[in-house]
Amino acid sequence: MNQEYLLHESDFLVSETDEQGIILFANDDFCKVAGYSLDELIAQPHSIVRHPDMPKTAFKDLWETIKRGETWSGYVKNRTKNGDFYWVFAMVYAIRSGNNNELTYISCRRRPSREEINNASELYQTMY
Ligand SMILES: Cc1cc2nc3c(=O)[nH]c(=O)nc-3n(C[C@H](O)[C@H](O)[C@H](O)COP(=O)(O)O)c2cc1C
Repeated sequence: MNQEYLLHESDFLVSETDEQGIILFANDDFCKVAGYSLDELIAQPHSIVRHPDMPKTAFKDLWETIKRGETWSGYVKNRTKNGDFYWVFAMVYAIRSGNNNELTYISCRRRPSREEINNASELYQTMY
């Protein structure tokens, strides 16, 4: 049975991708919650943590928003390495960094409340 992994109040999960959504970096909280080592995540597509309950349209909206240079925020249900799931409230945005000033994307996530999770879960069941 796949179980919910509840984030700790102080958890703050960060990951960074290139323009194609390939993972460049993930912090310790992200690795801990997702159940992967950093080595297992680097160079993988971010959909490695995608949960099948997430509607495609949520990610379409995410990508359109960040490519416009705006910040996307929303609730995301993710899958851990062992098949469990966890909910986050995420803020995703573009930054320019590094020697080449290249464009990368950052996502910062915190624990949503139970009520926020219930609302998002209900909404996503009406989307595809
Ligand atoms: C910075 C950043 C963080 C992302 N974080 C997640 C995430 O935590 N979970 C997820 O399923 N997709 C995340 N995505 C979206 C994925 O790139 C991908 O669009 C999504 O998993 C859907 O997979 P698909 O495009 O193969 O259908 C993130 C994208 C970016 C740019």
